[in-house]
Amino acid sequence: MEAVNDPYLRHLFDGDPVFNVYNKDAINMSVGAPGPDLLKQCAEMISNATLHRMEEEKKEGNFYLFQYGITPGLWECREELAQFLSRRYGDPVKRENLILTCGATHGLQLLLTSVMSPNGIIFVEEVTYMIALDAFKQYPLMKIITVPMKDDTVDLDAFEKIVIENKKGDFYLNDEKIFWAMFYTVPTYHNPTGMVLSPDNCKRLIDIARNNSVMVVAEDVYNLLHYENKFPPHRLFFYDDPNDPNYKGGNVISNGSFSKILSPAIRFGWIESSPRIVHILKTSGTLCSGGATNHYVSGIITSLLQEKVEDEYLDMLIKTYKERLNALCETLDRYLPSCCFYRRPKGGYFVWIHLPKGIDGMDFIKWCQKEYKVSAIPGARFSYTGEAKNFLRLSISFHPKETLIKATITLCKGLLDYIRNHTDSK
Ligand SMILES: Cc1ncc(COP(=O)(O)O)c(C=O)c1O
Repeated sequence: MEAVNDPYLRHLFDGDPVFNVYNKDAINMSVGAPGPDLLKQCAEMISNATLHRMEEEKKEGNFYLFQYGITPGLWECREELAQFLSRRYGDPVKRENLILTCGATHGLQLLLTSVMSPNGIIFVEEVTYMIALDAFKQYPLMKIITVPMKDDTVDLDAFEKIVIENKKGDFYLNDEKIFWAMFYTVPTYHNPTGMVLSPDNCKRLIDIARNNSVMVVAEDVYNLLHYENKFPPHRLFFYDDPNDPNYKGGNVISNGSFSKILSPAIRFGWIESSPRIVHILKTSGTLCSGGATNHYVSGIITSLLQEKVEDEYLDMLIKTYKERLNALCETLDRYLPSCCFYRRPKGGYFVWIHLPKGIDGMDFIKWCQKEYKVSAIPGARFSYTGEAKNFLRLSISFHPKETLIKATITLCKGLLDYIRNHTDSK
């Protein structure tokens, strides 16, 4: 029998020369994950929170943290999380609307297997979080349809038209599988464009979703990394107001995560949704069999939240990322060839560079890695149809400011060199 290839690898990006962000041969601005200088603080934070939580367990004496947990997740964790989110969003979040998950990827999987028609439609933006696209392909009965974008956010005129064109299908629906379609979107500090859906467009998107029974899954994983005002823009869920005369029981889901505000390895996140969806999720076979999905970790997170350690850490992240984003954008403003352009984000991890039409980001990046020892992700990777070729995504999350400045200057020089030598020949 053929043996499984199982090389010694240390992290998700290991073994891949393009994505290996730890590789010292080339500076890699591809990866949307924190670097070692930020993660090192997790060791002490988690160890203190663990000690704190174990003492609480001993005091109570029933060691429920080691038992199957209630299906929506540890009650006191949801309570602390609701308070944390309310103070960080500046908008109310209710404990009873939260279901704890093992991160946004897991939240998405729960939604796909519970409330979505198994032969439904998934609408995605022309460019979107690339690995979600890979996850969607694992549901071959669901059809994926791309929606155009305008100025780096969804084009809602096009979206409405496409939804109406596609809604007359023979979809499998019942009391649990209540949605024939999902619109998967990153409305706040989009991955990869970095942009935010305006309040008017949030309202319009919700109207379209309500009128056509579409579920909107908002990936709210970057919202709390905001660099301008005291509070981030309202999350999309805020606009799906139960007091609206045309409220339809809740069409928006906020799918959140601690991967970008604490550590990706912790695998902790939450779904915030309306009572009808919470009910379906918490009575689902998956949650009833396994109980709370991440019960032990939820206990440790509760301590981090109670002791305000997560707040301090998040404040530090915001300060650090703001400096990095400013440094990167100032470098782009100075060195980016004038035939390219970008829109400056106000939060999150990513800067989306528009290249001239004839330039293929994939070819450029392969060349740039070899010649200039700098890397980023080419646009086509974010597109279901493989379009969006003339774009690059840069991430500010992993490298310190000085490295980002150096890499950005080099990338811009590489771009100028490449464009000069490749535009005329095409
Ligand atoms: C939009 C978006 N959703 C989900 C994820 C993955 O989140 P998690 O680690 O919580 O599964 C990412 C990570 O890059 C992301 O950018």
